[in-house]
Parts: sequence; C-alpha cells; structure tokens
Amino acid sequence: MHRINLTIKVNGKEVTLKVGPKERLIDTLREQLNLTGTKEGCSIGECGACTVILDGEAVCSCLILTGQIGGSEVLTIEG
Ligand code: FES
Repeated sequence: MHRINLTIKVNGKEVTLKVGPKERLIDTLREQLNLTGTKEGCSIGECGACTVILDGEAVCSCLILTGQIGGSEVLTIEG
C-alpha cells in the first residue's frame, strides 16, 4: 500500500513517520509512538476520550488522518 512520509512534532519532539493514507491520528499515537494515554472510545467524535491538542486546538484524534497533518504540532496527555 502507498505510504506517506511526514514529520510532525509530538509533545515537543519532532518525529518522522510513514503512515497509510487511512491511518488515523489516534492509531499513529498509540501504535507507532506508544502514547497510549490517548484512548479510543466511540471512534465517531462523540466521547472525547481521544482528545489531543493539534496546533493549539482540541480535536478528536479518531477523526483526523495522520497523513493530512504533516508539519503540525500535537500535544497528548503525556505532554
Ligand atoms: S474515540 Fe470518541 S471522540 Fe474519538
């Protein structure tokens, strides 16, 4: 499958990642970066368990595709 290379800043640290086009931010955080403090509940943007700060705004990471946020800054509960 086609994978996207991108760099994002997570909790103040730059990380370079390879992600699939449909990979959600919550999966990248939990599976690639081992930041399991971000939890998955409803998966449809209603419960808020997956909330992170993306470029200064609270967002549901279950609704964000990681491939679309290259260059952004993410803050999780660990940060
Ligand atoms: S998992 Fe419920 S809002 Fe994302």
